[in-house]
Amino acid sequence: MKLLTQPIPLKDSEYKSFVKLIYNASGINLGDQKQELVKTRLGKRLRALGLKSYGDYFDYVTHVTNHREMTNLINAISTNFTAFYREPQHFSFLLKTALPDISRRKQALQSRKIRVWCAASSSGEEAYSLSMTLLDYFKDPIGWDIKLLATDISTKVLTEAYHGIYRENKLKPVHPALLDRYFDKEIIKDAVFYQAKDLLKQVTVFRRLNLLDPIYPFQGPFDFIFCRNVMIYFDQPMQEAIVEKLLKYLLPGGYLFISHSENLSPVFRSRVETLAPATYRKK
Ligand SMILES: C[S@@+](CC[C@H](N)C(=O)[O-])C[C@H]1O[C@@H](n2cnc3c(N)ncnc32)[C@H](O)[C@@H]1O
Repeated sequence: MKLLTQPIPLKDSEYKSFVKLIYNASGINLGDQKQELVKTRLGKRLRALGLKSYGDYFDYVTHVTNHREMTNLINAISTNFTAFYREPQHFSFLLKTALPDISRRKQALQSRKIRVWCAASSSGEEAYSLSMTLLDYFKDPIGWDIKLLATDISTKVLTEAYHGIYRENKLKPVHPALLDRYFDKEIIKDAVFYQAKDLLKQVTVFRRLNLLDPIYPFQGPFDFIFCRNVMIYFDQPMQEAIVEKLLKYLLPGGYLFISHSENLSPVFRSRVETLAPATYRKK
């Protein structure tokens, strides 16, 4: 007989405490409607730790020395949906406009260095799509010094990204020629997977980074930045603070891509040029 586990109730006061804790730690603004999400995602942590209430879990995670559980909490609460070549208009824009422009400017400066940042990269699909686009466009990877930095707050998705192993169905948006060039096919227990080849991994560096951090541990500057489908979780002041930092790390004339479902605050209007929906250039 299967034992049914009793659902653990989430009190209103407990929910409010978690909302505040998550907001302060990650900027993710859950508002007052996400009780079910918190209950389901954090319920797994309660069960894993053998705790009886959300209040006990709150005390556990906020214990001064418990940084590790805070990481688990953020891993559990963050929404990581992503896909290869998601919002394909941005990839067309790169090929038609941004990369030819970047290539021209580099040649004028006699520079061969291309630096790209994929912020909030989740499990790597977006970062690898960008790396493939860059390698395919610039062709000669030895002649160019190409590096793509991919960052996320969640260590869980970063581990997946680092391994770069994806189920066959996830690779559907990848052109067969690129799939062949940049991925190895593997059969694991009758299921088909694809693993990113070293050629792709060598240009793609994954690091943990909380976009809320006051200072980012790198210098940039980047030729373009993708920061898509993460600012929707932040409130307006937080979004503005992050865009401010992104612009700081972008080269003059560099490109910033946000999601088509996000808006760039009007406070940046004088500092960026809008080139296409969700596509900007730093003046
Ligand atoms: C919905 S995914 C978007 C992934 C990808 N950019 C895309 O558009 O497909 C949002 C990602 O943002 C990350 N995230 C949430 N808060 C963050 C923060 N404060 N700093 C960095 N990454 C964060 C989550 O872990 C998650 O992987």
